[in-house]
Amino acid sequence: MTKIKTHFQCDNCNYNTVKWLGCCPGCKQWETFQEITETKTAKRGLASLDLVSIHSVPQSKNITMVSNIPEWDRVLGGGIIAGSFLVLTGDPGIGKSTLLLQVSNNIAKKQKVFYFSSEESLQQVKNRAERLECINENLLFSDTANLESIIAIAQKEKPDLLIIDSIQNCYTSQTQTVPGSIGQLRESAFLLMRLAKESDIATIVSGHITKEGNIAGPKTLEHIVDGVFYLQGEDRWQTRILRSVKNRFGTINELGFFQMTQSGLQEMPNINQHLIDQVSHSPGSVLVSFIEGSRPLLLELQALTISSKLGIPQRVVSGIDHKQVVLLAAILEKYLQIKLSTHDIFFKVGGGFKVKGSSTDLGIALALLSSYFQQPIPHKSIALGEISLTGHIKPINQIGMHIKEAEKFGIKQIFVSKDQKIEKTKSSIKRFCNVYELLSLFENV
Ligand code: TYD
Ligand code: MG
Repeated sequence: MTKIKTHFQCDNCNYNTVKWLGCCPGCKQWETFQEITETKTAKRGLASLDLVSIHSVPQSKNITMVSNIPEWDRVLGGGIIAGSFLVLTGDPGIGKSTLLLQVSNNIAKKQKVFYFSSEESLQQVKNRAERLECINENLLFSDTANLESIIAIAQKEKPDLLIIDSIQNCYTSQTQTVPGSIGQLRESAFLLMRLAKESDIATIVSGHITKEGNIAGPKTLEHIVDGVFYLQGEDRWQTRILRSVKNRFGTINELGFFQMTQSGLQEMPNINQHLIDQVSHSPGSVLVSFIEGSRPLLLELQALTISSKLGIPQRVVSGIDHKQVVLLAAILEKYLQIKLSTHDIFFKVGGGFKVKGSSTDLGIALALLSSYFQQPIPHKSIALGEISLTGHIKPINQIGMHIKEAEKFGIKQIFVSKDQKIEKTKSSIKRFCNVYELLSLFENV
């Protein structure tokens, strides 16, 4: 006789208890406990199993499905690997379904793709597919949300790629928890992961994110899947950024750039051209290069320093570590005797990007000085250096990659440490030993 056991589990942090509790001792959230009835789950693993020698394991298909949308393929690590289980997440309306449909359509030119649109009716999907001209014999749709039906048809028909849009809208009868709960999400993800691995069917699920920007279902999905990709919006140019935050088959923090247009997501392979076009040749603006994933982004740092009207001057910083800016302001004040401590400092990274690490130190210092002295930095220049607490300018890594990218977009002058090793380049290289020497870029100071 199968014994049915029940216990209660916190939706938020998975804390287990035999009795229902109002407040979770684990995460202190209220009313998060769900009753879990263990029936089928308890039987898992009891079946007899065969151990095998590694020789007898069949070779995996080892297929990489290339979409020929290079911004997507690069972020994925070359394409979608057969049998991988991936999640694409982002705010509602950001373009997840659009992107998944465009990718599915391209892959369906060679492979068999099943698209389960649990979130939208087939009529809605048809409207989108017609608008995007994503019509293909090998791309088949269903709007069922029943996971058992999805798995059964996938096991029978063996598509190469399965899209579940979205996983939060699917339900499974393998768990007694209510549809939409974390218990359902966890069980659904587990079943799909088994399907992907056992049947070698690549599976991409879309997932919502919470207000805080995490995938709904705290970390549950992230641990199970092979890759997590975020689609984020950058409202300035209707830009959409695809970012890998976990990828068993590629680099993390790899970025792909798209623009939302009337006919779907268009790639923006020349993102650096866009970024450079936005740069103003004004006091406080300095160009730096920052490596995200595998490629450098040419970003404008913008500083505004202004004599403070308040007792405690303001430091308002976005896109960069606040402490890094404050520290560099202190270094400049100490060694150059300039009165930044009586100035408000406003600092941001152009295009809404975020940068971190010390390779942008020199750029930050020059932006602060440029605004303070109200003089622009020479046009078509880029700053690539670290600054130590003693005010020395230090070399940075991968300088060749930064310079190559900068030169591609018309940069003519490069500011670096005097100790920076640089292979032959056509740009003019200006070397600095310490922060005093930065003053040579400004007149009458
Ligand atoms: P969608 O892919 O449905 O977003 P998600 O699945 O992340 O919720 O995208 C919805 C938005 O994109 C909607 O506001 C309309 C817009 N859109 C376009 O601008 N152009 C297009 O070609 C398509 C299909 C959608
Ligand atoms: Mg959608």
